[in-house]
Amino acid sequence: MQREVVDFLIIGSGVAGLRAAIELAPHGNVLIVTKDRPSESSTEYAQGGIAAVMSDEDEVGIHFEDTLKAGDGLCYENSVRILVEQGPQRINELISWGAEFDREGQRLDLTLEAAHSRRRILHAHGDSTGKELERVLLNKVRSLPSVRKYPFAITVDLIVKDAVCHGAYVLKNGEIMALFAKATILATGGAGQLYSRTTNPEVATGDGMAIAFRAGALLEDMEFVQFHPTSLYSPTAPQFLLSEAMRGEGAILRNINKERFMPTYHPMSELAPRDVVSRAIISEMVKTGSNHVYLDLRHLRKDFVKNRFPRIYSTCLRYDIDISEDLIPVSPAAHYIMGGVKTDLDGRTSIPGLYAAGEVACTGVHGANRLASNSLLEGLVFGAQTGISALSSPIVPDPYATYVFSPSTIQDAEEIRRALRKIMWEKAGIIRCAASLGEAEEKLSAWREITLRDYATRHELELKNMLTVAGIIVRAAGAREGSVGAHYRSDFKGRGEDWQRHLTWACKSIDDTQGPCQWPQAEERCKL
Ligand code: SIN
Repeated sequence: MQREVVDFLIIGSGVAGLRAAIELAPHGNVLIVTKDRPSESSTEYAQGGIAAVMSDEDEVGIHFEDTLKAGDGLCYENSVRILVEQGPQRINELISWGAEFDREGQRLDLTLEAAHSRRRILHAHGDSTGKELERVLLNKVRSLPSVRKYPFAITVDLIVKDAVCHGAYVLKNGEIMALFAKATILATGGAGQLYSRTTNPEVATGDGMAIAFRAGALLEDMEFVQFHPTSLYSPTAPQFLLSEAMRGEGAILRNINKERFMPTYHPMSELAPRDVVSRAIISEMVKTGSNHVYLDLRHLRKDFVKNRFPRIYSTCLRYDIDISEDLIPVSPAAHYIMGGVKTDLDGRTSIPGLYAAGEVACTGVHGANRLASNSLLEGLVFGAQTGISALSSPIVPDPYATYVFSPSTIQDAEEIRRALRKIMWEKAGIIRCAASLGEAEEKLSAWREITLRDYATRHELELKNMLTVAGIIVRAAGAREGSVGAHYRSDFKGRGEDWQRHLTWACKSIDDTQGPCQWPQAEERCKL
């Protein structure tokens, strides 16, 4: 087995991982491993923008309050404070590195999105904000000689000895490599691919959450999955996000009878919190016996629509939908997971030597529901924050660990993946109940063996990770007998008792010798 020792190992190359790398680069050698091309991350596809207080008409305290309100009582306030207070500084730093945000004259052109009480969303090239961030951060990282990248290298497991993380085992060119580091940072993004309808790219398979769980790290808030209200719904087109910024600029929702419906559901109409809009859409779809509703921009100026949303305009046009003239068929889709690997304010997980930042992490900053455009900001702020704290990791990597790797194969992996995604969508999706979650759990238990074996291909490793994370989401959704934020139980419409507690999950049977984890024995540890 090939071995390599570095100072800092970062798994994932979206905004959080790259921002952490920039912080670490002056202090040692940094290796970024990523299972695809470095630019292939959720960051690259983020459209709407990045929220921060960048105008005199706005205040950090108001951004703080909006974030708490969206989080529905479950945000960790200290995390939110860091996010909103450090946000402007991190954005200015990005601008100094060459980020080109859209402007009106000299001023930043700030837009509005759901549940924001001020215009504070920066955007780039209209609707390609994430792509611009990824470009700037990758360029910056390329200029740092101490940072190297291993693309197309998927992490199989973490190296854990005496309950301390010493690095990761990675599959690269068909071989297992052991990468040792004094600090290992998970920045692998989310898990939208667990659902048959998702706005997330193919890489979002929950890998970081699953490998951290197998290593014995705590996961938290896993029942909170956010569903974006408007993803393109067309049998001939791929699933594609239709940014909330479109509603921010005045787009309205209509049912298939072309009736506007949001004002009857919420005083903020189309700009109500995402979970409210998603459930309203589902309710209209059920009422009208349809599998979609429409997004309508026809009342906006054609040239404004084309210039403000160039990527969405050209993508939809490829499928014969002119967004400035046609009603756009949309339906909700899994978008973001608020839960993840539990960290403190500095990205430290429950395992010394292991850190996490971005969507894979749960700092509690989003509570039960993320405020629109706070995710790129989270990646920037907590990526930097985690990089700074990883600098003082006390771990001295022990490069002599051995790994028994005996890969199996999964029969019918493609079919299982498809079935898993369908079950998650239908039984653990926007609306859940004990019966649907019980059915999901039963189906998942038939595949439990898959989560206990090793595999030598990316596709199989992803499926193993997806099954692990799906199991935790289903358990967590079953354990929270109440409806809070994005977690909606049709059998418990109130908040339920003890609703302010956070549910944390750990793999009980893990031992220091990297034995396989026994998912069925995962325990729930309730905390305040
Ligand atoms: C969007 O553009 O609607 C997505 C922004 C976000 O999820 O924060």
